[in-house]
Amino acid sequence: MTAANLVVKSVIEAVSVRDCFHLVLSGGSTPKTLYKLLAEEPFRSQIPWPVGHIFWADERLVPPDNIESNYKLAWDLFLEDVPLKEENLHRMKGEAGARQAVSEYSKLLRGLAEKDRDWPHFDVVLLGLGADGHTASLFPGPISKAEKSNGVIAAKAAYQNRPADRITLTPLVLNEARQITFLAAGSEKAEAVRGSLGKELDPKRWPAQRINPPAGKVTWIVDQAAAGSLGNSRN
Ligand code: 6PG
Repeated sequence: MTAANLVVKSVIEAVSVRDCFHLVLSGGSTPKTLYKLLAEEPFRSQIPWPVGHIFWADERLVPPDNIESNYKLAWDLFLEDVPLKEENLHRMKGEAGARQAVSEYSKLLRGLAEKDRDWPHFDVVLLGLGADGHTASLFPGPISKAEKSNGVIAAKAAYQNRPADRITLTPLVLNEARQITFLAAGSEKAEAVRGSLGKELDPKRWPAQRINPPAGKVTWIVDQAAAGSLGNSRN
């Protein structure tokens, strides 16, 4: 509910200023409840869908009808039920190879950006958090040159039984968003929530610390179990 209200508030604000909204989705199981809610009343009617543009923070390299596809997840849970324009569904091409998917999404973002810019300012970005601390497909470990200089990159990392090959937006793009909302639930996320929000800055270990929009707002929506180890945090 909190997350759905936040999405509604941000998209209404965006539309009042720019006549459209840009919403970025993630995969994983945590946003499922939110996605379902968005297609239900009162949220469905509160969101001006026909002027909405939908993007993905990351995608697994599988076809769009594969059960592991982040596009399919969102499509099945709410996108097919709301009056979005088909041409405004900007999915990452998981069925293409990493290189092609990255190049096509970079091009797509450039095409939707303001003049002389490489990507739009997103209004709302929804991000999950892995138990290992990853967010989008930014995994713990050294921060690559590619991540520091490109808006969209390929990633490869084993996590649970999910497809390891992915593409992802980078902090360069995410940090220009107006509102970033992290969603985390369950005790298995407690350590990652604690590390990500902890006093100690270690963005290699905790990729969510790479998300720091200078002009945007970051909100964490965390259930009690995931908040379990908080107490010694920066926020
Ligand atoms: C993906 C995601 C990823 C996800 C986290 C949390 O495609 O896997 O976008 O970053 O948000 O892994 O996933 P859960 O919500 O399932 O824990």
